[in-house]
Amino acid sequence: MPGILTGTALRAFVHALPKVELHVHLVGSASLPTVLELARRRPSAGVPTEPSELAEFFTFRDFPHFLRNYLAVTSLVRDARDIHTLVTGLAADLAAQNARYAEVTVTPYNHVLDGMPSDDLLTGLATGRAAARADHGVELAWCFDIPGEKGVVAGRETVVFALRERPEGLVSFGLGGPEVGVGRAQFAPFFTAAREAGLHSVPHAGETTGPATVWSAVHDLGAERIGHGVGAHTDPALLEYLAVQRIPLEVCPTSNVRTGQFASIAAHPVRRLLDHGVLVTLNTDDPPMFGATLDGEYVAVAETLRLTAAEIALLAKNAVEAAFLPSADKTALTAEIEEILLQDPELLA
Ligand code: ADE
Ligand code: ZN
Repeated sequence: MPGILTGTALRAFVHALPKVELHVHLVGSASLPTVLELARRRPSAGVPTEPSELAEFFTFRDFPHFLRNYLAVTSLVRDARDIHTLVTGLAADLAAQNARYAEVTVTPYNHVLDGMPSDDLLTGLATGRAAARADHGVELAWCFDIPGEKGVVAGRETVVFALRERPEGLVSFGLGGPEVGVGRAQFAPFFTAAREAGLHSVPHAGETTGPATVWSAVHDLGAERIGHGVGAHTDPALLEYLAVQRIPLEVCPTSNVRTGQFASIAAHPVRRLLDHGVLVTLNTDDPPMFGATLDGEYVAVAETLRLTAAEIALLAKNAVEAAFLPSADKTALTAEIEEILLQDPELLA
């Protein structure tokens, strides 16, 4: 079929696209060698110190199992140097995939609860962000999110911290953790305060629950983008609403498979979301924990859905459109993506 890329040509095309990552957690981006190094420093945290055991530790039975192990890794991160290591490691991984910009989720409440002075967190973010730009040519922005399982106390502390400190690069306010038993609406006052201060609203919703949670994220939290949102797929009215309002979804297909939400990429509703005109972006969530890469998400979806080069490029352009970047940067990235399509006329056949 003309325009459909496979194998090496597909991988080369995806790699060449300048990419934007909109849903990646800082702790979840730690490379396996970094996790092992941190774990060896603190064996009592329960994170394996040997590669084969770590692979097992990152094989998840379900979402609660994932979250438990994710929080154990979080507890290994202790000071500004650790944060700097995570940020620069993520930047190197992004640069190696020709990803130019990322919005990175950071959960200050969890780090402070684990004993990290908040000044250490801010210092590590600032020095890491500067090094990401200088050494890797990658621009990073921050989303500070509420760990939902810790309740409204965490919501209040997170918004107070975000608005008091307002570090360079902070663009958005989020809500992560479990959805089951953790209603979105209870966090409404904190999202209102964050939005009034100019932060964008990007809660997780519809990762492990259905459309009601996504509706709540929109109505109660003023969501401008939704983390995951795939649970919307069973509600045609919601799909239409998301499409018409152009509320982007930060879709993380491999993450959803690895936490047991869908049996495979083929069984994932990404096709249905696209068919309903929803602005889908592709993302990794917690890449080494899920064995995911940003290039890999594009390749997997393109192969499974038999996408043309133009359709793959559209996904990359969606991420640019959905990013909280200045419009001049968006125009430049979009032009670069279009240039890559035009370079090879066969791609448009
Ligand atoms: N924290 C880290 N990864 C997460 C995910 N996939 N969903 C909710 N909270 C998270
Ligand atoms: Zn997430």
